[in-house]
Amino acid sequence: MSTSISVSPLTPFIGAEITGLDLKTCSAGQAEEVKAALLEHQVLFFRDQELSEQEHIEFARFFGDLEVHPATPRSQANPEVFHIEHGPESRGAENAWHSDVTWREKPSLGSVLKAVEVPEVGGDTLFANMAVAFDRLPEALQEKITGLVAVHDIARVFAARLNKAPEELHDKYPPMEHPVVRTHPETGRPVLYVNVAFTSHIKDMDPAESDSLLQQLYLSAWNPEVQCRFKWRAGSVAFWDNRACQHFAASDYFPKVRKMDRVTIAGDRPYFAA
Ligand code: SIN
Repeated sequence: MSTSISVSPLTPFIGAEITGLDLKTCSAGQAEEVKAALLEHQVLFFRDQELSEQEHIEFARFFGDLEVHPATPRSQANPEVFHIEHGPESRGAENAWHSDVTWREKPSLGSVLKAVEVPEVGGDTLFANMAVAFDRLPEALQEKITGLVAVHDIARVFAARLNKAPEELHDKYPPMEHPVVRTHPETGRPVLYVNVAFTSHIKDMDPAESDSLLQQLYLSAWNPEVQCRFKWRAGSVAFWDNRACQHFAASDYFPKVRKMDRVTIAGDRPYFAA
């Protein structure tokens, strides 16, 4: 494929900065190039983008159907845009490693996050390559967890945030079972697919053993060697593959203001293919 965009990796394992592309005039051909870069680097960063909400939505639509997050107010003009805003009244709460909406039956393929207003320092987002996190586990542990199933629960984060009882959330979003190791549907790589924000436990396992195993798995991704870290400016955009990486937004900027808009692309049902 001849390429018109320029891709500069941030680290050997994850993250690349893309230049030579204005997201609001992105063509179908350029979107193909972006997709290829995403599969290789798991998260892409674009600087100095001036995108309206509609342009943000149109760029994300190149990659699939869009989701509406249950925390989005019904009255909102563009319900596909999920506003994540913090300041003196609310401390940043996205500081737990996760991939987006793993409590859905079909969790998100990817997210496109735009910085609207950011503090001068702080509020960076970190990303971890979950295929490398899996590769780095001891072989015996890889074998032990392959085939196990984990339960993901929206209530772990959103019961308090939406001020709802878990049962109420579970009416529409029941706890969901996904493989602990999923096969990436496009790269075919095995990916560690449990996260501290939404995974409640490993199915059919003693609770203490499940907690201890999950902690051990999380540590593999909490290693700076499999991560990259992005410092935002207003107009920066990140596009990440939720099937391949996890992220963590540093909540170190209180009481400064940080406003982000996220558009989330629908994914498919996670599976493991031997
Ligand atoms: C998110 O957790 O999806 C938001 C990440 C961020 O605000 O940097």
